[in-house]
Amino acid sequence: MVLSTGHNRVRTAVFISGTGSNLKSLAIFSKTKISPISINFIVSNNSKAKGLNYAKKFKIKKKVLSFKNKKLSENKLLSILKKNNIEMICLAGFMKILSKNFIKKFKGKILNIHPSLLPKYKGLNTHQRVLNNKEKYSGCTVHFVNARLDSGKIILQKKVRISKKDTETSLAKKILAQEHKLYPKAILKVFNL
Ligand code: GRF
Repeated sequence: MVLSTGHNRVRTAVFISGTGSNLKSLAIFSKTKISPISINFIVSNNSKAKGLNYAKKFKIKKKVLSFKNKKLSENKLLSILKKNNIEMICLAGFMKILSKNFIKKFKGKILNIHPSLLPKYKGLNTHQRVLNNKEKYSGCTVHFVNARLDSGKIILQKKVRISKKDTETSLAKKILAQEHKLYPKAILKVFNL
């Protein structure tokens, strides 16, 4: 990706649905000297998302949109993002699927983090499926978003070893800790930094 505005940081929105621990790690990263992005907007489909609290903490604007009527919510969102000069989107635990039309408007500018070694284990309940299949490794992936779920070009992955004692909860925790490091690294890579 090319930095479009000289030395200014690329204005980025983070989309969440829940805890927002990846949002937190991105917000912290965005304040570092080396970050090519600033986080200027938080979007959630869930008004009860804990991650929305980071809006106040990091002084970031926020917007909740139900996505019950996807087309309406997306159109509203597109105009809000435009008004706020948002150039890039990081999905971080966002549980809604964006339409082709929306993705087209931000072509090549939407990233997602997924808690598996894609292309394996796309979709939900990743950790349980991984454990059921007695995999030795799992991990996390940051990828570009295209119109097919969890299928865009892979930017970076981190492998995590699964121990015999791992449960869905312990594996999720182990992988999440790696996600927090991987997302900022993937952003640096996207900007060739
Ligand atoms: C992460 O495991 C992410 O990979 C997945 O949803 C989880 C979100 O966690 N898509 P958080 O809200 O960032 O804490």
